[in-house]
Amino acid sequence: MNLELQTLTWAQAASLQTDALIVLVSQKQDKTTGLLATMLAQAEKSGDFDSAAGQCMLWWKPPGLKTQRLVFAGTGQGRAQDVRQAVTLAVQSIKKSKSAKVSICLQDSHTPHLVVAAQAAADAAYVYTATKPSAKASLISKVTLGVPDAKLAEPAFAMACAQVAGVALAREWGNRPANHATPDLLAQAAKALSKHPKVSCEVLGLKEVLRLGMGSFAAVAQASAEPLRFIVLHYKGAAASQAPVVLVGKGITFDTGGISLKPGPGMDEMKFDMCGAASVLGTFEALAHLKPAINVVGLIPACENMPGGKALKPGDVVTSMSGQTIEILNTDAEGRLVLCDALTYAKRFKPSAVIDIATLTGACVIALGHLRSGLYATDETLASQLLAAGERSLDLCWRMPLDDEYAEGLKSNFADVANVADRAAGSVTAAKFLQRFAKDFPWAHLDIAGTAWKSGAAKGATGRPVPALLAYLVGQVGKPATTASSRRVKK
Ligand code: BES
Ligand code: MN
Ligand code: ZN
Repeated sequence: MNLELQTLTWAQAASLQTDALIVLVSQKQDKTTGLLATMLAQAEKSGDFDSAAGQCMLWWKPPGLKTQRLVFAGTGQGRAQDVRQAVTLAVQSIKKSKSAKVSICLQDSHTPHLVVAAQAAADAAYVYTATKPSAKASLISKVTLGVPDAKLAEPAFAMACAQVAGVALAREWGNRPANHATPDLLAQAAKALSKHPKVSCEVLGLKEVLRLGMGSFAAVAQASAEPLRFIVLHYKGAAASQAPVVLVGKGITFDTGGISLKPGPGMDEMKFDMCGAASVLGTFEALAHLKPAINVVGLIPACENMPGGKALKPGDVVTSMSGQTIEILNTDAEGRLVLCDALTYAKRFKPSAVIDIATLTGACVIALGHLRSGLYATDETLASQLLAAGERSLDLCWRMPLDDEYAEGLKSNFADVANVADRAAGSVTAAKFLQRFAKDFPWAHLDIAGTAWKSGAAKGATGRPVPALLAYLVGQVGKPATTASSRRVKK
């Protein structure tokens, strides 16, 4: 989908030749004159439309206008989430029509609203076709964002284009079934990103992973016929002396649970267990478009979690790259086993921050549902910056606790740590496990089990938390440069 930015007043919109014109109307609407204002006043007077959030009215071939379709969409108080809802409803209402060119008339050139509107339009227009040829690809090919002052909106528009591309990539890979998104195919997708000038990619296989001592990651992969991949992405937008942010994405391309096998019903949804990895790919796609002056490293441990004769067994003890031994009490707690080695690997980049992103626990879905991702952090600045980035981008998270008492249950008689505790606070104990491997840098962990995809009729990947990650990273531009020599890493 193509995005375009344009200065567009209501008067100009009235003579716009397009397939569909979406006009956002808030309760704080200025009393403008002209044909659109007259139509709005009539629609309100007749009770057919009001500007409350969630209201939508479609006109077909409205007399006097050049557009084929006109949609008034109410944004109520005009909050970002109201703009999102209005654009979503409006685009859905014309999605099945023969509308290729869509223009959205926004009320201000305000940054977050423009990005939110663009994302909502792209999300509503998205159609999954990769393994469903019968699905008609979205007809909507061009969306024009009309604002009072296009010049003013240019930086926001650049952000919108980058985020939309990043979310699309994350959704696409999240949605692909496991046999169409193997660890090697993920690695190929990462390699494809290195066509962008500032992006490079390196892919490690089993030999290198074992040589590095990643015994925990390799153990998860050992029963699968699909070879594991450890993907390393670099985005170099600033001087090499600038410490990078490292993003680590859980890339379990299918999670059967292993010997601790999951129940059959709904197991298909475990193809989404690489949405953390997909969000890293999506964020790199967005960075490649936006080109901010920062450095970012992306790490993706990718493999399947399968049962079988070669599979890891409950009670097995593995040695992680950090040297810590781990007793596997439940082979279904595999995400933390692949992430811990990636976190140890992250240390070599002397990062300013490390953020891992993982569909880690069902317990997080119970705790926070599908609205907010679980955020854990050992660093207050990092925590508040991520929380704020989530609010700005409407990709919300919520801070969760890391009290040491929560780690009690991870004690083992046979290893340095067990991979599970009891059921209580399952999302927190998973984070406590990871924290043991993230002592050398400011660290945050996003448990996206509830937010990365939707179940039910709308089953599919959401592309979250690409918006929050991108907003956070863009917020790092111009932060005091750290030089390699001033960066101290605890050994
Ligand atoms: N990928 C799952 C987490 C998950 C479960 C996400 C359900 C979304 C919905 C993860 O690997 C897992 O299986 N976690 C276990 C941990 C348990 C064995 C301690 C879980 O949450 O049940
Ligand atoms: Mn699992
Ligand atoms: Zn999993």
